[in-house]
Amino acid sequence: MSANPFIAMKNIEKSFNGVSVLKKVSLQVESGEIHALLGENGAGKSTLMNILGGVLKPDVGSIIINGNEVKLTNPRVSQQYGISFIHQELNVVSDLRVYENLFLGSELRNKFGFLKVEEMCNQTSDILALLGVDIHPKEYVRNLDTSYKQLIEISKALLHKSKLIIMDEPTSALAEHEVERLFAKMRNLKNSGVSIIYISHKLKEVKEICNRYTVLRDGEVVGNGDMENESIETITKLMVGKEISEERFTRKHTFGPSVLEVSNLSSEGLFKNIHFTVRKGEIVGFTGLAGDGRTELFESLFGYRKKYSGEIKVNRRVVKIDHPRKALIAGIGLVPKDRKENAIIKDLSVIHNMSLSSLGHFEKSGFIHEGKEKSKFEFYKRKLNIKVHNPRITIDKLSGGNQQKVIIAKWLEVDTEIIIFDNPTQGIDVGAKREIYQHIVELAEQGKGIIILSSEAPEILKLCHTIHVMYQGEITARFTGEQATEDEIMSYATGSKREVLHNG
Ligand SMILES: Nc1ncnc2c1ncn2[C@@H]1O[C@H](COP(=O)(O)OP(=O)(O)OP(=O)(O)O)[C@@H](O)[C@H]1O
Ligand SMILES: [Mg+2]
Repeated sequence: MSANPFIAMKNIEKSFNGVSVLKKVSLQVESGEIHALLGENGAGKSTLMNILGGVLKPDVGSIIINGNEVKLTNPRVSQQYGISFIHQELNVVSDLRVYENLFLGSELRNKFGFLKVEEMCNQTSDILALLGVDIHPKEYVRNLDTSYKQLIEISKALLHKSKLIIMDEPTSALAEHEVERLFAKMRNLKNSGVSIIYISHKLKEVKEICNRYTVLRDGEVVGNGDMENESIETITKLMVGKEISEERFTRKHTFGPSVLEVSNLSSEGLFKNIHFTVRKGEIVGFTGLAGDGRTELFESLFGYRKKYSGEIKVNRRVVKIDHPRKALIAGIGLVPKDRKENAIIKDLSVIHNMSLSSLGHFEKSGFIHEGKEKSKFEFYKRKLNIKVHNPRITIDKLSGGNQQKVIIAKWLEVDTEIIIFDNPTQGIDVGAKREIYQHIVELAEQGKGIIILSSEAPEILKLCHTIHVMYQGEITARFTGEQATEDEIMSYATGSKREVLHNG
């Protein structure tokens, strides 16, 4: 480490309502390095970066840029020092166009004060092309998929001539090829002297792209050094405080009768000829690349999309599902992806976000029985290791991963016979992932039918009894959990191998 880092944060401390979340944290970043900031959910990563981004004030500590102490009193000041921040929770405005989002707050105007729309569109196109994104600069953001929103958030940071870019889980919604392009761009930036602080729970990516690392645990730095010298295992151990093994999770057990049978399900342009069965006690996985149609398929099954043909049977009875309410009545629950858009209600407390979809469980003569609600919350808090000091605070005060755990608790509490998890561990740290997997396995052992959608093959491999691979809206392979390998899955997911299956 050189004596003159580009940025040094020294002995930073921060408390919220008397609870200390950062304790004497120091972090140094050189020019032209990609620095990984690692730690479990709630370790304090986003809080530390919010301080660097001028969003939060530290209680104690100093920040030094190029040798001079600075006061980053608001985001604009940070930006003036060349710091850009790609937030964990996407900050794009749905009702604006793509280019308007990119230039929000720094619009280009001519000498008469008129907006230079074409110029802004051209610059937007250039940046999007760099990232390999094929969208029109004038498209409204609301019409775009989440992965594009994340790419817009990234483009926004690239637009400014930044010296330091903070990326807080930038790849959580991206497909593999998008990640590759982003990494290529990051390497270019690094070579031109730009520094990047990279936060992610995907340790394989971290290992690939980062030069150095700092690990936080419970608000304290527990280790730092060169990435080259460390294995993913040692870093995991630093983060979690114990060894994490990589074995398969599911145990062999006998399945009950089929609880869900899907035949010949099709929806124009989205998916076709889908056949599969889920038995009681079975964990059934679906994987593939972005755009493989799996999310749309299960949104249809849950009643978010009305137009489809084919047959769905729950417990051998044909059901017609054209509304989520009907799915719930039939016994199907869905833990959606994209918690910010689909799942959390920001202004409600943590505890109410948990109980919202199952208020009946806590009701007594028309009133909510708060004691019951609280003790249920305590149950999930223990079970999923949710880090929250006071469940009555609004959910947006929780760390990203802990918000996700509350959403999972909410759906577990709904307690349907069939549960669909779409990307259940997005933004969840390695240790907590295991707790969630453990819980999913227990649910299956209790006789529930479980469906897991995930783009992470290792997750599917660890968890599922039966694995389906999708490609362009079709199921192109079905394996048992023991048969499947990551390579096999990949070759079907990319379309280089295919065998269209016609019955389940
Ligand atoms: N505004 C706030 N009010 C109260 N507590 C907060 C606030 N912001 C963060 N916290 C708490 O600070 C701790 C650290 O949160 P932070 O968001 O920094 O974690 P993180 O390391 O980014 O985790 P994740 O990987 O889940 O995103 C958490 O316990 C969180 O609940
Ligand atoms: Mg965070």
